[in-house]
Amino acid sequence: MKRKILVTTALPYANGPIHLGHLLEGVQTDIWVRFQKSTGNETYLFCADDTHGTPVMLAAKKENISPEELVGRIQKEHYRDLTGFHIQYDNYYTTNSQENRMFAEEIYLNLKQAGHISVREIEQTYCEFDKMFLPDRFIRGTCPKCKSPDQYGDGCEVCGSNYSPKDLIDSKCAICGNAPVLRNSKHLFFRLQNFSEKLLDWISDENHVQEGAKNKLIEWFNQGLQEWDISRDGPYFGFEIPGETGKYFYVWLDAPIGYMASSKNFFKDNANIFDSFWRTGEGEIVHFVGKDILYFHALFWPAMLMGSGYRTPSCVNVHGFLTVNGEKMSKSRGTFIKASTFLKYLDPEHFRFYLASKLGPGLDDLDLNFDEFVSRVNSDLIGNLINILSRTGTSILDKLDRRIGKISKEGQALVLEIIHSEADIRRWYEEKSYNKVIREISRLGDIVNRYVNDKAPWALIKTDMESTREVVGATLNCARVLAIYLGPVTPGLSAKIFRFLGVGENTSFLNLNEYLENTKINPYEILSKRVDEKAIENMIEESKETTKIPENTNAAGAKTEQTGLIGIGDLAKVELRVGQITEAQNVEGADKLLNVKVDLGEKGIKNVFAGIKSAYKPEELVGLRVVVVANLEPRKMKFGVSEAMLLASGSGETLSLFIPHRSANPGDLLK
Ligand code: 2FM
Ligand code: ZN
Repeated sequence: MKRKILVTTALPYANGPIHLGHLLEGVQTDIWVRFQKSTGNETYLFCADDTHGTPVMLAAKKENISPEELVGRIQKEHYRDLTGFHIQYDNYYTTNSQENRMFAEEIYLNLKQAGHISVREIEQTYCEFDKMFLPDRFIRGTCPKCKSPDQYGDGCEVCGSNYSPKDLIDSKCAICGNAPVLRNSKHLFFRLQNFSEKLLDWISDENHVQEGAKNKLIEWFNQGLQEWDISRDGPYFGFEIPGETGKYFYVWLDAPIGYMASSKNFFKDNANIFDSFWRTGEGEIVHFVGKDILYFHALFWPAMLMGSGYRTPSCVNVHGFLTVNGEKMSKSRGTFIKASTFLKYLDPEHFRFYLASKLGPGLDDLDLNFDEFVSRVNSDLIGNLINILSRTGTSILDKLDRRIGKISKEGQALVLEIIHSEADIRRWYEEKSYNKVIREISRLGDIVNRYVNDKAPWALIKTDMESTREVVGATLNCARVLAIYLGPVTPGLSAKIFRFLGVGENTSFLNLNEYLENTKINPYEILSKRVDEKAIENMIEESKETTKIPENTNAAGAKTEQTGLIGIGDLAKVELRVGQITEAQNVEGADKLLNVKVDLGEKGIKNVFAGIKSAYKPEELVGLRVVVVANLEPRKMKFGVSEAMLLASGSGETLSLFIPHRSANPGDLLK
């Protein structure tokens, strides 16, 4: 029976670009949605930008534009990047919409009327200069536990401890740098604990959340559910709370409601379909989210729906994080890769194929390892499936006038062997075990390639044209089935294969059993190219953000862009020292660089690649005392690791290193 499924991905926040982390979820979801569509289920994919809150408000202020203008621009960029990876949305909306305001108000008022909202005063950090309450992330100070300076209001990145902003030592407003004060304010709370029993029931159904997610949820239950602060004081970019003055819904209240708003906007002329999903529950609602936002989606969100007369989700599917080369994505290592940067260098379908080959149904993190990426794409995709087509679809077919005939008995048996995997493949797609799908497609591809090897049509054609035609026909029929199997993962590639074979571009699982016979095959076009390793290097190089002195920030890391000046605290971050060059040499293959070793006294000897070859010969440098930025994070460059930076002015032949005027010792600190 045909299912009706409404699917969502988490709404990207409108204050930064789409990166590969977002795409893990987007691709996982899109594969599932495309699979459902390909099997004939009525499926919709809805998303939106998550637009409200203080970070967006301040980012807009910094650019001197309205928040509406900012979120409009970011939404376009997000949509461009996500669809660049072939994620096919039925609607990509915004939480700053009329529909969202209407649902947020309605849900809140229903919850209030049913006694699920409480009110009390709380004490919070307030900046008297910016005239606003400060979210934890906008307070900086010294960690009360380990005394590390410049930490956020809610937790220390150095020792990992969590604390209240009130306990931060010497706290500063991150916007203006002034010390904040404490101030009381009335807040509204959603009484999550009223739903404890119903929620426990809800998560106990294995269809609703995976086992790993359920275990985490049970831990939270055991700690006791707490009421949730859903209001924020103005100024705030968001929806004002009905019946209150100067109070706004916290961004996380209206964010998931954005799923409904995006659906409503899409079904604007058909209230019945909307209701069949959100009220009567005839259709399924499936959310895909990362494990970091499980609490919101498997506790707050179902409780909000339960308490306001809506149905609860059919499934919250949780995935892990993306790591790159075994580590958290890092701007300095160049592994914090933006979607737009990836698209400049590499093929998004290769990324989809690689992710699919590693994605299972659990909450485990997924590592993007670039060596493995190259080998999986080049051998399992290009060297296997594409190989089947390029071996039989080019010159051999030309010699056969590009015609295939009726499929032979032997050919039928081979195609049936490939079709035989349909049930497994469907089951694995359904349960999100895409890694098993790809493994099976590779196994089947091997079978077909072996068949081509055994038949050797390039030799056979010299003696028996008609048998060759049969071999090619059987092979292309198999390729057609494999392209259907792979369609949800690499839709663009499958569409190219369908075009090449002259079957409809929308060929789907429903067409699996149709044979390709007595037809002319189109001229061969390049279907997909091998991954170029140089392109990966270039992409990583472009993604590297070298550690720079933060511009326009004061001691508290607060922006002072109004004046264009930096605070004394910024200067203190840069460790300038006297260094003595002990070795210097040319770098093979580098036009501009010299490799020098610099003695920094008790700080040790640092290896530096410096762009000074235009003005200095290695031999004239040895012994020279220079000025060095000594605390620069080591940077991996093409020729090795550079651990410091020499200060210089000018360029070309007139480039000049800075040297101390009087006697200065290696390691002396500049003040
Ligand atoms: O974590 C995030 O980036 C949030 N913007 C996700 C919101 S998902 C949903 F609740 F809207
Ligand atoms: Zn301030």
